[in-house]
Amino acid sequence: MAAHEPAAEEQIERELERLEAIERFAPPPDFQAHALIRERSIYEQGARDPLSFWADQARRLSWSEPFEAVLDDSDPPFYRWFHDGKMNVSYNCLDRHVLAGRGDVVAYHWRGEEGQERTLTYAELLAEVKRFANALRDLGVREGDVVGIYLPMVPEVVVAMLACARIGAVHNVVFGGFAVEAVRERMAVSEAKALVTVDGSARRGAIAPVKAAVDQILPELPALEHVVVVRSKGGDCPMQAGRDHFYDELIERADAECEAVALDAEHPLFILYTSGSTAKPKGIVHSSAGYLTGVATTHRIVFDLRSAADEDDRGLPPDVYWCAADVGWVTGHSYIVYGPLANGATSVLWEGAPDYPHRGIWWELIERYRVSILYTAPTAIRACIKWGAQWPARYDLSSLRLLGSVGEPINPKAWLWYHKVIGGERCPIVDTWWQTETGAIMITPLPGITETKPGSATLPFPGISAEVVDEHEGKPLAGGQGLLVIDRPWPSMARTLYREGERFVETYFSRFGKRTYVVGDAARRDADGYFWVIGRIDDVVNVSGHRLSTAEVESAIVSHPDVAEAAVIGQHDEQTGQAIVAFVTLRADYQGADPEQEVRDLVGERIGKFARPKRVIWAEDLPKTRSGKIMRRLLRDIAEGRALGDVTTLRDPEVMQALAEHVAQARAAEAD
Ligand code: WT7
Repeated sequence: MAAHEPAAEEQIERELERLEAIERFAPPPDFQAHALIRERSIYEQGARDPLSFWADQARRLSWSEPFEAVLDDSDPPFYRWFHDGKMNVSYNCLDRHVLAGRGDVVAYHWRGEEGQERTLTYAELLAEVKRFANALRDLGVREGDVVGIYLPMVPEVVVAMLACARIGAVHNVVFGGFAVEAVRERMAVSEAKALVTVDGSARRGAIAPVKAAVDQILPELPALEHVVVVRSKGGDCPMQAGRDHFYDELIERADAECEAVALDAEHPLFILYTSGSTAKPKGIVHSSAGYLTGVATTHRIVFDLRSAADEDDRGLPPDVYWCAADVGWVTGHSYIVYGPLANGATSVLWEGAPDYPHRGIWWELIERYRVSILYTAPTAIRACIKWGAQWPARYDLSSLRLLGSVGEPINPKAWLWYHKVIGGERCPIVDTWWQTETGAIMITPLPGITETKPGSATLPFPGISAEVVDEHEGKPLAGGQGLLVIDRPWPSMARTLYREGERFVETYFSRFGKRTYVVGDAARRDADGYFWVIGRIDDVVNVSGHRLSTAEVESAIVSHPDVAEAAVIGQHDEQTGQAIVAFVTLRADYQGADPEQEVRDLVGERIGKFARPKRVIWAEDLPKTRSGKIMRRLLRDIAEGRALGDVTTLRDPEVMQALAEHVAQARAAEAD
């Protein structure tokens, strides 16, 4: 309790200074003594024969027809893994555990924003998934059909995903923070047949009317036949007979038995739209067996998971695992739903924000559920640093034994604070680098053997081959900064972009040939071969771990009738990693009162509140090349206050001077 005194914060500062001098952190001995992986030989196995390494991992799953072929690489980059085998993902996540007598193990401790609790065992989850799978079938959903899911962090989101997997429907989850316009676009391009949503969702004590908002887009979605509404917050919600159905009523009516369909290993499990260089989101398609192999293996090994399903006794009680992401992003798909369930883990599922009802809620939940593994993002850690160490100090965090980080490079200061204040210096930190496209963790420490360096994701996972190459020829670099590539296929890799196979090849596999996946990040390797990921090289920005394309935001802004032109960039931000800055040119006859507010609201409506620009800078003109291309590089230089690079290729070099003045004014206004 004493830690809210300035003296206590000072004490922490001093401790962090001491830790700053440490270059590498060896696995804590107490942790190491019980670690799942204690031998470096796992790296040799993965390197010597990656195919048999992955085949062994795949055999840990249940197959209705075992595979013989491991990898078909005859048509790169369209790789197929385990393709002559058959299995079902929901069977692997649920039935398998229940049949082995672990039906009473808790799959999720769900906690609602107002303190409500619901415990779902594996048996309960399976029973509900079976019913909902039947309900979807009753609505006409068939194998291969796309089902949209637009839900907050309620237990039904997991049920809906697994019910799709059970019958071979392909889910397309849209993060609940997206505006309905983003839902419309994603449903339209994937021709979703049904959409599962909610009456309303909890937002820091208020309720957002989700179904009413969804109703606005339904007339524009002719292929969407049914809407299923989870009654979460109660209260009135508009329903149209024949089209809209309450989830609980469907469950009640549905048959209780539903056998899992044996699906081809390569059957698509889900589509997840993510942002790229253009305004049009990319529909990342993941497979069933390869994806599950990747997420189950990494979840077990990277998080050193001990579950009730483990045969070997490591002298540890089963873990309580908490990935504090949202299911609407890939982190949630892979490490809230599929990885943990495939491994029979017990997880926490928290509905709310990290600061509601108070800034200590995360730590309260860790104490309450005795959480032993916490996986979160640097932006959340930085928010906690800002709120102060007095919040975690109020709770007993001694159950924690491992910490994870994901989503962006973690700055050493945040790493050390996480290590000291949350981990009590006894928990290894796994900084995991991966992407929506990679499906599973790719570069990461193995907590029982890897020495960590704050800010580095360390080394590729066994069986994964990564390189930093020069940007022209793709030759591996001995030192210095280059492009991060993955030069061998892996089971959980994206299979294609939904209905855009050519774009898949073009975006990821054209620069250095069809066998080299170019990830879109810059990185460097140090003398120990450790990877340091620097950031994106394309027009993708990462705001609080939310991935956005600058083009997407621009397209929302220019849809304003009074906006002539807009250019959006990501600017370094202490809190959120990057912040969105929009340079906007208004039409001369603009009549409105508050253009900045209008621009921000418009982005909120078209994409989602999280995408609203932090700064709007008015520009009479934007820096363009003679051919008319906006030079975002120069805008980034201005925004970061850097010396301007070469401006001689500009059509009108004067533009830069005016803009720099606007930025300076905006800065001064903020400082006031
Ligand atoms: C981009 C992928 C991976 C799930 C969440 C984000 C950045 C991710 C790290 C890390 C440095 C990281 C990269 C990557 N990124 N993890 N540990 N260190 N950068 O998935 O939305 O597909 O974004 O996030 O830039 O390319 P995503």
